[in-house]
Amino acid sequence: MAGADQKTAGQGTVLPRHIAIIMDGNGRWAKKRGLPRTAGHAAGAETFRRIASYCRDLGIEYLTVYAFSTENWKRSADEVSAIMGLLKKYLEEAIEKMRRENVRIRILGDLTPLSPELRALIDRVEAIDETLETHTQANLCVNYGGRDEIVRAVKAWEADPDRGELTEEELSKYLYTAGMPDPDLIIRPSGEERISNFLLWQSAYSEFYFTDVLWPDFTPKDMDAAIAAYQKRDRRYGGVKK
Ligand code: FPP
Repeated sequence: MAGADQKTAGQGTVLPRHIAIIMDGNGRWAKKRGLPRTAGHAAGAETFRRIASYCRDLGIEYLTVYAFSTENWKRSADEVSAIMGLLKKYLEEAIEKMRRENVRIRILGDLTPLSPELRALIDRVEAIDETLETHTQANLCVNYGGRDEIVRAVKAWEADPDRGELTEEELSKYLYTAGMPDPDLIIRPSGEERISNFLLWQSAYSEFYFTDVLWPDFTPKDMDAAIAAYQKRDRRYGGVKK
């Protein structure tokens, strides 16, 4: 099991600092049970709660999940509103729990099309964020698209009178993930093996882990398996093995 004690263990057993997850398979999970797709998202939100607590207990510093993409607006109004409702419920609970659990929550994405109610909740969560001194952070990507993020970053850089010379490091400062380490490990459950416009810039050297398990069925044991697979990888960042 990938316990917190492994964080300080030798080469090859280092815990990822940042894990990102494409929470896929909610619809298929519901279909298998003869339930509406929205029931799959509700189960997926529960799985997120469990996995986020587990990652915090392991000592993972950053957990980033893809909750709603810039393309997900193409889904039915009912499905979109169910996902937004789950996010609202989660943020309301978070406002109660964040201080006690000392976990920072950030919402990454273009928040302008969200309802005023959801945006007000996000503002409240972010105000609490600023008061927390913690190394544990959950990022929820909402109306997030990797290409959109890069275009926005370039525009924001261009509009900034204090901008520096355009380098990779400079542009990173204008991404939603400014100041965060890139994901070490990206997990996609449900048997699909693609990036789907998630963290395009940040995933340049991430390790990928795919599993057939559907997201609502994903357990701490599956997280252990993903971390164990990561720990066997040989990360060279384009260099050669020493
Ligand atoms: C992908 O599965 C999942 C989504 C597009 C939505 C994920 C959202 C949640 C789990 C709820 C968010 C709330 C919190 C609190 C994190 P899919 O619907 O594409 O599944 P399918 O491929 O089986 O149809």
